Amino acid sequence: MSITVRPLGGSEWPAFVAVDYEAFSATYPLEMADRWREVVELDRLLTAFDGDLMVGGAGALSFEMTVPGGPIPVAGVTSVGVLPSHRRRGVLTALMTRQLHGLHEDGREAVAALYASQAGIYGRFGYGRAADTLSFRIPTHGSAFTRSAPADPALRLRVAAPADALPGLRRVYDAVRPGRPGMYARSDGFWKTEIIPDTEHDRGGMGPLRCLIAEDATGARGYALFRAKAGWNEHGVPDGEVRLLELMASDPAAYALVWRGVLDRDLCSVVHAGRRPVDDPIMHLLAEPRQLNAVWLDDLWIRLVDVDRALAARAYAAPADLVLEIEDEVCPWNAGRLRLVTGKASCEPTGAPPDLTLPVDVLGAAYLGGRPLRAAADAGLVREHRPGALRELSAAMAWDPAPWGCRVF
Ligand SMILES: CC(C)(COP(=O)(O)OP(=O)(O)OC[C@H]1O[C@@H](n2cnc3c(N)ncnc32)[C@H](O)[C@@H]1OP(=O)(O)O)[C@@H](O)C(=O)NCCC(=O)NCCS
Repeated sequence: MSITVRPLGGSEWPAFVAVDYEAFSATYPLEMADRWREVVELDRLLTAFDGDLMVGGAGALSFEMTVPGGPIPVAGVTSVGVLPSHRRRGVLTALMTRQLHGLHEDGREAVAALYASQAGIYGRFGYGRAADTLSFRIPTHGSAFTRSAPADPALRLRVAAPADALPGLRRVYDAVRPGRPGMYARSDGFWKTEIIPDTEHDRGGMGPLRCLIAEDATGARGYALFRAKAGWNEHGVPDGEVRLLELMASDPAAYALVWRGVLDRDLCSVVHAGRRPVDDPIMHLLAEPRQLNAVWLDDLWIRLVDVDRALAARAYAAPADLVLEIEDEVCPWNAGRLRLVTGKASCEPTGAPPDLTLPVDVLGAAYLGGRPLRAAADAGLVREHRPGALRELSAAMAWDPAPWGCRVF
């Protein structure tokens, strides 16, 4: 089988959707693909052909994503799928290789990011697991806060229609985003098609999208987007549930109040909160944090397309002056030695002997500051040639707060 990879042609969007639909065993109504079309950049879609049959596709979104120190351009890799008839014959490999080489030649973004449908897929292409999330299942009867929970009498909760509340949601989101690695700017289209929609399919058996806003005279300071479903158990005891989709706040008092609004909803016995950050302040607010019933999941995966530019683009938590020997089979322009001087934000090729040798996926995993290099070294993935070099780089790359992308793209 000979596979050709090329950009999507002018009339090929329906075929691209059909491949994805089949690859993902999708259940959404096909019209929903039109929603996604408002977000995808057609000129950044790649397709794979077996003869004249489209058998795979992959895309990239032009994001501004926060990394330690502030936002940078990042390619958000998305819509990756291969027809079931052609799986495990190298179609994805051809697409990923072409995409990474294209990103390098294009030069707009030194970093690529994605959400993986399965955690075992992307390491071979140099992506590292850079962020994690926690999902909580909180019984509302066990959700009391500690006595030190913050409160602000100026704040009020308001029930709002999500679409009407959009300016307030954006104000809060954009206040939080620059300080949290992994969060990315949302275009109008992204808010409209990914965050606010409310079809039967979006509801997934739950009720309509609901919105709570915490605000004062200056406007919105926090919000929650969620769905709820009423129910009673066989003894007539209220047993409804809440599915929290997103909760953001620009200050601690607003954060606590929005959470209370979600947890205190009458007739609901449990709150499912998916994809929360691993340093979610709710862990400090609950008087009995075991009631979070937390489950761990991988979140964003990061690929350093151009390691030198990527390392020079972020800030560092501690000084480091090191020679790194990078291993990278998929993007050979990265393989070799770079001298990283964090104070000068410089990362240049060098012939000096290396202090550390590490594969590009391990560096990608550490890039957002949430995955300590020390742990990767303990797993045997980093080789230290100068004693102390590992500690130096690990301390420099660590960052607070923990990375978190919030919503899948
Ligand atoms: C996942 C998917 C894209 C893989 O495509 P593919 O063309 O079969 O992948 P390739 O043949 O290029 O495989 C490359 C390597 O990745 C491995 N691989 C592929 N899919 C994998 C998976 N789901 N889990 C673990 N390894 C996987 C292959 O075994 C192969 O390993 P090798 O190099 O050691 O032989 C395809 O199966 C698919 O579309 N799945 C459903 C949709 C999906 O999950 N898309 C990804 C969205 S993030």
